[in-house]
Amino acid sequence: MTTPLSSARPTAGCRLLANPAILPVRPYVPGKPASEVRRELGLLDVVKLASNENPAGPSPRALAAIRDLLPELHLYPDGGDELRRALCRRHGLAPGSVLLGHGATEVLDLIARTFLCSGDEVISAHPSFPWYLTVGQLAGATSVVVPLRDHVHDLDAMAARVTASTKLIFVANPNNPTGTTVTARALDDFVERLPDHVVLVLDEAYIEYVDDPPATFDYLAHRHVIVVRTFSKIAGLAGLRIGYALARPDVIELLEKVQAPFTTTVLAQAAALASLDDDEHRAASRTAARSGRELLCAHLARLGLHFVSSQANFVFVDFETSVAPIADGLVQRGFIVRPMLDSCARITVGTTAQTAALVVALEDVLRAREVGGVEPPRSESARTAQSRHLAVP
Ligand SMILES: Cc1ncc(COP(=O)(O)O)c(C=O)c1O
Repeated sequence: MTTPLSSARPTAGCRLLANPAILPVRPYVPGKPASEVRRELGLLDVVKLASNENPAGPSPRALAAIRDLLPELHLYPDGGDELRRALCRRHGLAPGSVLLGHGATEVLDLIARTFLCSGDEVISAHPSFPWYLTVGQLAGATSVVVPLRDHVHDLDAMAARVTASTKLIFVANPNNPTGTTVTARALDDFVERLPDHVVLVLDEAYIEYVDDPPATFDYLAHRHVIVVRTFSKIAGLAGLRIGYALARPDVIELLEKVQAPFTTTVLAQAAALASLDDDEHRAASRTAARSGRELLCAHLARLGLHFVSSQANFVFVDFETSVAPIADGLVQRGFIVRPMLDSCARITVGTTAQTAALVVALEDVLRAREVGGVEPPRSESARTAQSRHLAVP
């Protein structure tokens, strides 16, 4: 006889049944979408500069490829073989060196699930992309967090934290949220020192914005290195969710074992493939990011604000005072930035017009705070404590 659900005994809660490894995990909270802020505040125009999206949008070729495929949406995608082959050719790698994922986010998760066992250690930097901590936690691994040095990955300190239990190391190059890069020389030395029981993940989500990127594919043949990239940033396809891993074919085969079928869609594959052919769109996006960044930084400097020199499509600013009211003031004026670490914010480089308008809003917020006398100017010791805070997980 079956018990009707309504008369079932109350239980002690599902928490007890959950995998204990997931309990400390804090679900990712995305920033408020512009549409919601628009509705809530009754603003006509809201600009989101919080997620490092490409303000140029996707390549027209990607849009055309999507339109062509719309009548075929009743069919499952194939394994993305055409895109995989194109990526191998483009990067000069052997066939079988690419795994496609539902964004670089899925690829990073697959890497963690492929390699991590409970008790393993995962090394990453702070501040860096927080998803590295989450995927480690989900696998029951221990996170070892190494502070940035002068806002850059401290590869010597990271190497010094390698133990017999270290399994994975994540290095974002450029780093999110600071936009800083490690030098090719420092990376070469670091890779050279890696023991054989460690897999190094080089997250190159923003590498296309970098002037002189390190030749990381050279590492793949003789070290356990996986390079992760995405179409979300320079290709302007964040909404379609497609990224990829580049590694030796034997490593890719391992990652494929843990991937659910069909995680990259027909439209995402086609748009990504078409965007690979659009060098013009990529070059224009890179140039616009560079000039937009220079414009933003020039204004930040004029306002006497501290920021980190960036190679990516965003800038990390330290306001040296509580960032929450500043971010809130910007939202009230129609600009969403990403506040973090109490006193800092990451600001995505928008179009020239967006940057100009953001700067006006920022000046207005800072002036209002001065006039309102919300916070007194900070003493030298408070400044020092603040910059120290930046380096603490
Ligand atoms: C360093 C870094 N890696 C990976 C990702 C994830 O990219 P995707 O949109 O492909 O999931 C991001 C997204 O912002 C990122 O900043």
